[in-house]
Amino acid sequence: MATSSSCSSLKQQFLMFLVVTISSIINSQVNGCFTSIFSFGDSLTDTGNLLEISLSDSTNPPHSAFLPYGRTFFHHPTGRFCDGRLVIDFLAEALGFSFLPPFYGSESGKWEKFQKGANFAVASATALNSSFLAEQGIHSVSTNISLGVEVNSFKHLLPSLCSSSSNCKELLRNSLIVMGEIGGNDYNHAFMQGKNIENIRQLVPLVVDIISSSINVRIDGCCPCFKLGFKETLKACCGIGGLYNYDPLIYCGYPPLKQCCNDPSSYISWDGIHYTEAVNKWLAHTVFEELMSTIPSLGSLSPSSTVNKLRILYPMFGV
Ligand SMILES: *[C@@H]1O[C@H](CO)[C@@H](O)[C@H](O)[C@H]1NC(C)=O
Ligand SMILES: *[C@@H]1O[C@H](CO)[C@@H](O)[C@H](O)[C@H]1NC(C)=O
Repeated sequence: MATSSSCSSLKQQFLMFLVVTISSIINSQVNGCFTSIFSFGDSLTDTGNLLEISLSDSTNPPHSAFLPYGRTFFHHPTGRFCDGRLVIDFLAEALGFSFLPPFYGSESGKWEKFQKGANFAVASATALNSSFLAEQGIHSVSTNISLGVEVNSFKHLLPSLCSSSSNCKELLRNSLIVMGEIGGNDYNHAFMQGKNIENIRQLVPLVVDIISSSINVRIDGCCPCFKLGFKETLKACCGIGGLYNYDPLIYCGYPPLKQCCNDPSSYISWDGIHYTEAVNKWLAHTVFEELMSTIPSLGSLSPSSTVNKLRILYPMFGV
């Protein structure tokens, strides 16, 4: 199972942070270890894909296209569903990379800009594909992109980043692949569309299967909330009132909700669904520490088991 019962409620809300490392394991140096980063997921990891897609499709921009999104760090909206940086941004920074460019949208053909990595995560993306969900009467909102579509996009991009099969194996070996969070929207969309708990429960093993067939190593970043010292643990920073300062029908960023709290860093929840930058920073720290402490132990995995798992994700290269 992807989650364990010993973790905090913070994690139980969304945090299933999955980090797959396909790396030069023996090298214990942090910098110089990875040559690229590729990431997959939904709004917790989207660094601008949904926004780019909406611009290229001339559909309505997502609410993350408007202030106060981005106010804390970028000082303007970037399409990230946060006041500042996401976990993936902190990981990129920690490894000495620039922020990962979103893959989708009008620029997606320009592979030059993906030499050091690309982000395939799209807000609202699901683990299960949209046709399968539609058969269950669950309709994708904002995008039809699912984890499978993201992984396929990666497979299509790869040949432009590495010329021969052995080159590509080398590239994959030296890449950090960040998988997650994904799967939350399968349940969110189902709940919002009036499915009952029994319908949703039936989705769980399917979602878990899809995710686990896409990863080889899982790292859960997780700790009890009380260690964090956030002043406001329930209410959203950007919200319209009520017990949680959250109304699912009124989106932060769209009128009339253009205001937020003065000190997002003392809040856990940014807009009722997404974390504040302060939480992301802490999560990234936790994930990073675990990642680093896990790399040496990856070396002791039997190479063939790692290779078999890689084959599921990258059959085209026969690794
Ligand atoms: C969608 O997902 C279902 C169930 O996992 C699978 O059987 C089907 O082949 C998938 N369809 C596409 C188009 O990927
Ligand atoms: C998803 O795909 C269906 C069928 O092609 C289409 O009717 C629908 O508009 C799409 N939804 C989004 C949000 O792209």
